[in-house]
Amino acid sequence: MSSRKRRILTTSALPYANGSIHLGHLLEHIQTDIWVRFQRLRGHTCFSVCADDAHGTPVMLKAQELGITPEEMVAQTRQEHHQDLLDFYVNYDNYYVTHSPENKALCELIYKRLDENGYISKRSINQLFDPEKQMFLPDRFVKGTCPKCGAEDQNGDSCDVCGATYSPTELKNPKSVVSGAEPIMKESEHYFFDLPQFESMLKEWINTGAIQKEMANKFNEWFEQGLQQWDISRDAPYFGFEIPGAPNKFFYVWVDAPVGYMASFKNYCDANGLDHELYWQTGNDTELYHFIGKDISYFHCLFWPAMLEGAGFRKPTKVNIHGFVTVNGAKMSKSRGTFIKARTYLQHLNPEYLRYYYASKLNDSVTDIDLNLPDLAQKVNADLVGKVVNIASRCAGFITKKFDGKLSNNIEDKALIKQFQEAEDDIAWYFESRQYNKAIRDIMALADKANQYIDAAAPWVTIKDESKQQYTHDVCSMGIHLFRILMIYLTPVLPKLSEQAQAFLNDEFSWDAAKDLKLGHEINKFKAMMSRVEIDKIDAMIEASKENLKETKSQVANVASDKGQLAEDPISDTISFEDFAKVDLRVVKIVNAEAVEKADKLIRLELDLGGETRQVFAGIKSAYDPSTLIGKHTVMVANLAPRKMRFGVSEGMVLAAGPGGSDLYILNPDDGAQPGMRVK
Ligand code: MSP
Ligand code: ZN
Repeated sequence: MSSRKRRILTTSALPYANGSIHLGHLLEHIQTDIWVRFQRLRGHTCFSVCADDAHGTPVMLKAQELGITPEEMVAQTRQEHHQDLLDFYVNYDNYYVTHSPENKALCELIYKRLDENGYISKRSINQLFDPEKQMFLPDRFVKGTCPKCGAEDQNGDSCDVCGATYSPTELKNPKSVVSGAEPIMKESEHYFFDLPQFESMLKEWINTGAIQKEMANKFNEWFEQGLQQWDISRDAPYFGFEIPGAPNKFFYVWVDAPVGYMASFKNYCDANGLDHELYWQTGNDTELYHFIGKDISYFHCLFWPAMLEGAGFRKPTKVNIHGFVTVNGAKMSKSRGTFIKARTYLQHLNPEYLRYYYASKLNDSVTDIDLNLPDLAQKVNADLVGKVVNIASRCAGFITKKFDGKLSNNIEDKALIKQFQEAEDDIAWYFESRQYNKAIRDIMALADKANQYIDAAAPWVTIKDESKQQYTHDVCSMGIHLFRILMIYLTPVLPKLSEQAQAFLNDEFSWDAAKDLKLGHEINKFKAMMSRVEIDKIDAMIEASKENLKETKSQVANVASDKGQLAEDPISDTISFEDFAKVDLRVVKIVNAEAVEKADKLIRLELDLGGETRQVFAGIKSAYDPSTLIGKHTVMVANLAPRKMRFGVSEGMVLAAGPGGSDLYILNPDDGAQPGMRVK
């Protein structure tokens, strides 16, 4: 590989601000982070940015439900997401948010240029509208009976039972997920981006190495079906940026989300006196890479490059597409406890276990990656603890105790060192081309060789022989040299372990440093670097992930994201009696009830628990006039952790049944039940 210094900008897809980072997201962040760390270790300039994706209907509705503004919600999740990533040693130069002044300005600029260049048109379309909530409904916010097989409660775009796809207007008994009301058809003017004008440019770009071949083939099928105009506007109410010159029309979230890459980098450049344009204008030899999952390739490989081209910006050098994470062979599942949040993982396991495991499986294809937890434990224990760290721990003690903490001036096995050094070329190529699995395979093959060398030389035997002191010193020093080279190669994958190794070796790594040898070098006392994975920690993590189910599940929260992908039905498996017994249900008397202003769903309740009074915010305003509730008995979850909301703390939850809207019923115990009685 040439030694020219490259200038690179990388991005990872921007996580939606209405959910937690989970182990699926982390595959991508870890993939990007390894690549970025590798480039930097090689001495290249490599920036990396990410952000929270703040806009869109799901974020807006979730904030409403929590009774906070979308801005407040987004600020909170952005911080949580950022901390989760940092704790996995995923280090972005900037972790920003799409709801930012930089992003607004860049969206307006791009839109203006697209409009001036003749790529924007307007026309009226008919769409489903929630008459109660007074808003247009995205497809996945409509549910109803499948027009093909008659299955009830199916999504607006496809049926889970028979697999049919259809338009939401074909559903029988359609209902708005937001209010439960029957949607009506309503006309409204929309703005369109003229994607078909970019067809030949896109065909060429996609088929000349910008994306993986297997994906290019998929795109060629889509080209055959013909490209369509892209609807880029949404009507108010919408959390997003208003389209200039179009009051009450907003950019669809997928317009401003990729511009968010630019904006995050702009915010970073402005703060650090760097040249933003160098990476976005055409004609520079800078490189731009997006790391994404296969579910969002349409947006990144068609709309985004076309927008860039149409507005006179450079196109990405490559879009690197990965597959999906499955856990123990199946889709991540809340009921099985395999929908594991980043934070839950961190409460039980070392983040580098996951980094190593993902690296050992990641490759340049879009096939899915199975996170098999017993396999993770086995690999980490065998490879990292049993092989790599073991090399140092077998040799370091003798160096410290018998040889003054200094490595010898001889190289006992020159051929072996050479073999380790020469492996660099292949390993570097595997990192560069995102075949991390092959890099790890080669590194572990070397680790085996190092251990075999030490086994054969048996320094713990020769140390006892006065005449073999020099030999023992040379052998132990060999072990340390070999360990050092392996740790240089593993630095992009295991930054923390590498830091510990550098402290122990009294050294600072660069990729090229693998070519140097530290003859006569003084090292520090060896300290334990990584402990074995304990299986019961994995079990505890799974258990804790099942707990998440007990959180309130709302209709709206079940609608996952803004790309037509739906959240799974959260409850299917049974729970044990012990699990049920943890829920403390109590009879309460509603002593006061009042509507919460500025929150269209919430009623503030004061509940008498038989001596104690609790405040609870309940999302039942669409079904009840507060005054009619006062004096009634109902049932509450008394041991739910209190939750801070904008209007105050909610100290529990009342139970209600029904699909939502006016169709919602609080539970009413039979006469005779007294406040404070436990419901069993
Ligand atoms: N907000 C959009 C991206 C906008 S980029 C301009 C989005 N957000 S997301 O939170 O749903 O997904 C973020 C990234 O995580 C995507 O690349 C997605 O493919 C990836 N993953 C989400 N779940 C995943 C798995 N289970 N496995 C692997 N990657 C997954 O899409
Ligand atoms: Zn059906």
